[in-house]
Amino acid sequence: MALHWLVQVFLWCLSLVTISSSSSSSSSSSSRKCQSICGNISIPYPFGMGQDPTCFINDQSFFNISCNESFTPPKALLGGQEVLDISLQGQLRIKFPIGWDCYSKSGNRTSYFPGFPFEIDRTPYTFSNTRNRFTAIGCDTQAYVTGYPFQDLYGRLDFRFGCLSSCWNTASVINGSCTGIGCCQSVIPADLKVFDVEIKSFNDHTDVWRFNPCSYAFFVDQDFNLNFSVSDLSYTSFRDRNEQVPVVLDWVVVWNKTCQEATRNKTDYACLSQNSECSDSTNGPGYRCNCSAGYQGNPYVPGGCKDIDECKDKKTHNCKQMCINMPGDYHCKGREGYHGDGWNNGTGCTAVAYAKEFPVLKVILGTGLSLLFLLIASTWTYWFWRKRRSMKLKEKFFQQNGGLMLQQKISTRRSDTFKIFTIEELESATNNYCASRIVGQGGFGIVYKGVLLNNRVVAIKKSKLVDASQIDQFINELDILSQVNHRNVVKLLGCCLEDQVPILVYEFISNGTLYYHIHEAGHFPSISLENRLRIAAEIAEALLICILLLQCQSFIGILMADFGVSRLVPIDHTEITTLVTGTWGYLDPECLQTGKLTDKSDVYSFGVVLLELLTGEKAVCLNRSQDDRNLATYFVRVMKENRLFQVLEERVRSETSAEQLMAIAQLALRCLKLNGEKRPTMKEVVVDLQRLRGFQNHHTVRDQETEKLLCETSQDCTEDTDGQYSTGSHFDISLTLSR
Ligand SMILES: *[C@@H]1O[C@H](CO)[C@@H](O)[C@H](O)[C@H]1NC(C)=O
Ligand SMILES: *[C@@H]1O[C@H](CO)[C@@H](O)[C@H](O)[C@H]1NC(C)=O
Ligand SMILES: *[C@@H]1O[C@H](CO)[C@@H](O)[C@H](O)[C@H]1NC(C)=O
Ligand SMILES: *[C@@H]1O[C@H](CO)[C@@H](O)[C@H](O)[C@H]1NC(C)=O
Ligand SMILES: *[C@@H]1O[C@H](CO)[C@@H](O)[C@H](O)[C@H]1NC(C)=O
Ligand SMILES: *[C@@H]1O[C@H](CO)[C@@H](O)[C@H](O)[C@H]1NC(C)=O
Ligand SMILES: *[C@@H]1O[C@H](CO)[C@@H](O)[C@H](O)[C@H]1NC(C)=O
Ligand SMILES: *[C@@H]1O[C@H](CO)[C@@H](O)[C@H](O)[C@H]1NC(C)=O
Ligand SMILES: *[C@@H]1O[C@H](CO)[C@@H](O)[C@H](O)[C@H]1NC(C)=O
Ligand SMILES: *[C@@H]1O[C@H](CO)[C@@H](O)[C@H](O)[C@H]1NC(C)=O
Ligand SMILES: *[C@@H]1O[C@H](CO)[C@@H](O)[C@H](O)[C@H]1NC(C)=O
Repeated sequence: MALHWLVQVFLWCLSLVTISSSSSSSSSSSSRKCQSICGNISIPYPFGMGQDPTCFINDQSFFNISCNESFTPPKALLGGQEVLDISLQGQLRIKFPIGWDCYSKSGNRTSYFPGFPFEIDRTPYTFSNTRNRFTAIGCDTQAYVTGYPFQDLYGRLDFRFGCLSSCWNTASVINGSCTGIGCCQSVIPADLKVFDVEIKSFNDHTDVWRFNPCSYAFFVDQDFNLNFSVSDLSYTSFRDRNEQVPVVLDWVVVWNKTCQEATRNKTDYACLSQNSECSDSTNGPGYRCNCSAGYQGNPYVPGGCKDIDECKDKKTHNCKQMCINMPGDYHCKGREGYHGDGWNNGTGCTAVAYAKEFPVLKVILGTGLSLLFLLIASTWTYWFWRKRRSMKLKEKFFQQNGGLMLQQKISTRRSDTFKIFTIEELESATNNYCASRIVGQGGFGIVYKGVLLNNRVVAIKKSKLVDASQIDQFINELDILSQVNHRNVVKLLGCCLEDQVPILVYEFISNGTLYYHIHEAGHFPSISLENRLRIAAEIAEALLICILLLQCQSFIGILMADFGVSRLVPIDHTEITTLVTGTWGYLDPECLQTGKLTDKSDVYSFGVVLLELLTGEKAVCLNRSQDDRNLATYFVRVMKENRLFQVLEERVRSETSAEQLMAIAQLALRCLKLNGEKRPTMKEVVVDLQRLRGFQNHHTVRDQETEKLLCETSQDCTEDTDGQYSTGSHFDISLTLSR
């Protein structure tokens, strides 16, 4: 007998709720304080629980879940049926009872329960066609589902589906197999909304009543382990145990609108979250919402769809190396030095083959920049190194040249113009020792004209040689000389000890050197005898001062105002030949033998200068015959030959008496005595000169005294008056910086 019925329990349930609460529609809110958990089942919006209508979507009646806390765990109920879980993807698992059809031994029906092929038309729910099976159990059983046409509303045609199961004894039943022997299953169509379930039998179970008095029929989740066995055929099986089986329902959020309709008038649009999409149900009418690709969460709640950080999990991204999350998306990237799209399913990441893809521009640029950097760095380093080295060198020279000692000495003075110059100061003063600045090239070095920063013009003497062993003495003399303040002595302004050889700075005398005036200025205007004598007297005075004050022993030194430097030149027999030519003609011949300069050496040198003043001849002149090249030697011979007046300078000869000239010549001869001890002291020379300047008496040209002097001046006075002076005849002289 066919059972054809339409149970509206579920619908009734739902409509009841609908009526009771249709007035209270409200917009959903993501900030609801709504209970969303029942037991261990989460109840996501649009589903809700409790009285608060804002916890439901507009059609709250369909989504009203009640939670019966009297069970442990509490049971979530929808329309009185236990809900197992709810998925926002549009599924809901719910427990439904099974239907049965039971007979007596004689074949009379004893009980019938259709389970619940209940009406779910006009609700958001549809049996999931993909996840449910229609199942029948029994050995004399036919079970059908018949759909009814509701053409008016949906334009559907009626349909029927079901399965048939039969068996003659339990032996033929295979435990766990639902393939038509005692158990059968059927897939179900989509859009299953309005239908009836029919359970039928061919022989009212009369043939199988022994072991199978009932037929059962139900929808069930295909994943449910039915575990069909022979015992399920017995009378006491499903029915007695009041077994319920899980069923999967598809749900939509709005059952009577399509997405097109819903988005046209968004007033009631249910997809409230950004990054959500509307999709029409593929199983019946209505639409549901879904988060857009790359987002997850609840599309029915504003802001419910959250970006998926695909990069968090290796399984959710498809990148070979680096994954970069983006809103709703992610990118793949290869590491530095790799190329390819970075995707596992794409070209992946392969190490860059440099030969293939040589980044010419990059390399050129990189190399260029590196080189530039290197160049700058090395230049700087070199400059720094040089500066450091030169500083160290300067320091070394400074110490070597007695700078510390000098500093100490200077510091004890009260006020002083003497200054220790830096090498840079002198370099800038002389325009880096420019050749055009050279004002003299003396025996001991080169003299430059320099301009200091304060515009003071100075003479800067760069020595050529230095004797390190005499530094202490040199510094002493430098110290003393710098304190000499005499009109006849060139003022020593300072020195620089930072160079290999000491550099001396003097006041600059612009009037020209004595050498210049005697030998180079020509005869016009020639210097008067009076002036010559004055010059001689002043030189002698200066020397005297020098000797008295400083025990200076070198006339050459004071004459050239660089006696300090002269001390640095070792005066001994081996070195003498290398001695610069400048001082040669003035050098005490005795000194050549002893290697020692004494006060009397200065007297000798002065004698030579006096001769120069008298004769206008140079101390050493290559124009004279070889024996006469040395002026001193030459003069002694001239005196011997009584030819004084032939060698005197013209103006000198004409300006005074022969007596005075003879007296001057005699003074010169005395100074030039070979034996230093027989020479007058400097003081005597000064006194003599003073006397001579006032000399008026006339004497014979060649008197006894002169003869005696001549004798003493000659080397072999007693034996050979023709004895010759052989020393110093090959040298030229240049006087610098003397007055
Ligand atoms: C809820 O708990 C029951 C038993 O405690 C368990 O069988 C079921 O799988 C749980 N459901 C969920 C959704 O966790
Ligand atoms: C939901 O259903 C329960 C009864 O099952 C009812 O008490 C409650 O008021 C309903 N909620 C709403 C918002 O209608
Ligand atoms: C909960 O379930 C129990 C047992 O089925 C029932 O007695 C009770 O009334 C239910 N409570 C609610 C609030 O529905
Ligand atoms: C079975 O039903 C028939 C009529 O439908 C009736 O006559 C008969 O008495 C019933 N048998 C039993 C055992 O109830
Ligand atoms: C299936 O049923 C049999 C007996 O009815 C039972 O022994 C067995 O454990 C069940 N298997 C499962 C997986 O439930
Ligand atoms: C099938 O299961 C029943 C219990 O449910 C058992 O008694 C029977 O022996 C089983 N049959 C086979 C073939 O395993
Ligand atoms: C859709 O259903 C709701 C109730 O669920 C009803 O209020 C509304 O009028 C229906 N709309 C249409 C177009 O049928
Ligand atoms: C949108 O629908 C609401 C009711 O659902 C209605 O009041 C409103 O007029 C509609 N708007 C348009 C533009 O159709
Ligand atoms: C919703 O989106 C996810 C991923 O974006 C997809 O897997 C799922 O099938 C979609 N569901 C529906 C109902 O469109
Ligand atoms: C690789 O897979 C992603 C999705 O995982 C897809 O978006 C992309 O287009 C695929 N790329 C290729 C080259 O197939
Ligand atoms: C040397 O003699 C030459 C001619 O013989 C003459 O030109 C020159 O000026 C002389 N030099 C000196 C310094 O007298």
